[in-house]
Amino acid sequence: MITYDVFAPATEEERQALFARMRAEPGLCRVEPLGAYGAARHEDATAILKDPQTFSSEALAVTAEPPWIGPNPVARSLLTKDPPAHTRLRALINRAFGASGIARLEVRVREVSERAAEDAVRQGEVDVVEAFTHVVPRDIIGHMLGLDPSTFPHFKRWSQGMAGITAAVTPAQQEECRSVVREMNVALREVIEARRRQPAEDMVSDLLQAEVEGRKLSDDEILSFLFLLLPAGMDTTTQLLGNALLTLARRPEQLERARADQAHVPRFLEEVLRYEPPSQLSFRLATRDVELAGTRIPAGSLVLGIIGSANRDERVFDQPDLFLPGRSKGNQHLTFGYGIHFCLGAQLARLEARIALEAFVSRVRGIQLCSPTVEWIPAIASHGPLSLPVRLLPA
Ligand code: HEM
Repeated sequence: MITYDVFAPATEEERQALFARMRAEPGLCRVEPLGAYGAARHEDATAILKDPQTFSSEALAVTAEPPWIGPNPVARSLLTKDPPAHTRLRALINRAFGASGIARLEVRVREVSERAAEDAVRQGEVDVVEAFTHVVPRDIIGHMLGLDPSTFPHFKRWSQGMAGITAAVTPAQQEECRSVVREMNVALREVIEARRRQPAEDMVSDLLQAEVEGRKLSDDEILSFLFLLLPAGMDTTTQLLGNALLTLARRPEQLERARADQAHVPRFLEEVLRYEPPSQLSFRLATRDVELAGTRIPAGSLVLGIIGSANRDERVFDQPDLFLPGRSKGNQHLTFGYGIHFCLGAQLARLEARIALEAFVSRVRGIQLCSPTVEWIPAIASHGPLSLPVRLLPA
């Protein structure tokens, strides 16, 4: 089995070249410095995600709650659970997260997108991550969680604190993560209390009322879910929009097509999802000795579905390195995962990104990058620009 260093590639091209080498070898590979087994082919990554008995999501609970952090509600969220606990929790949460909840948000998404797009275009030369791609998902998730708009400016720090738990080594970094967990605890518990006293037409009220087979969600279960939603719903969608705007800047013909025909926007977005997935890795823990694609994996091993590679697998996608909106099997990417943990927010993310892009492209006839090099988020599991300074040419 070949070992690869996932931190080695310095550029996007090098990263894709590394994934292509991984896919060329049958079976799984060793991924360092994570000490993990990696599935680079679409078929193998899917096999891992559809077998939660063998490949447990508890891997995420372990990394989210190192001893120094104290109780972290995310460690007990939906994302870290296996059946049967996952099945029960997801059924209850689905009640509050259904299509009607999303429809309720559509008007708000349009309002926020148009305001943010207007603002970005007015500035002319602007970091669109700061002014647009972060603002839309931040305000929508804040609204969904029922938090007061005065707390929205804290969200970036909160999600950085949550994401930073795995890498925090100095006492100061660890204290910052603990502060974030404390602040989020106070803010989110207040929302739960407020909606219990006075239910409203929103998700938290629906979560408090949801009932399946006589069982309701406990306050701690609701809190864990809200803790998960803030980074899960905000950072990924910010990255998707960042990747979309970067693609429009690099491929002006796509901007032209999107401006000429709004029906092109969802096709374009689906290809951005495949080509530049915000979540690059799915983490699992082998619960027993198992053989997959001819590779023996010992119980207790960390196992990765490499989404960024599976989405470019030539066994599924014709000419995978070409950016072709509307391609056949274009939605068979693993960007939203697969199986029982398939992203609960996929529909919302697609809706948000479509409306945000419609608002943006209708106001802009050109996007010029201020720098040829892109500063990416410094994390191997996430993929999106950290900042994106551009000059916008108003329509
Ligand atoms: C482009 C945007 C998004 C991407 C790429 C994305 C990606 C993913 C992926 C890959 C998973 C599966 C993780 C695994 O199997 O370990 C997942 C699960 C999840 N996502 Fe998303 N997500 C996005 C947007 C959202 C939004 C907007 C929300 C909610 C507001 C959301 C909520 C969730 C939740 C609650 C889960 C856990 C589902 C479960 O464990 O059953 N996501 N997401």
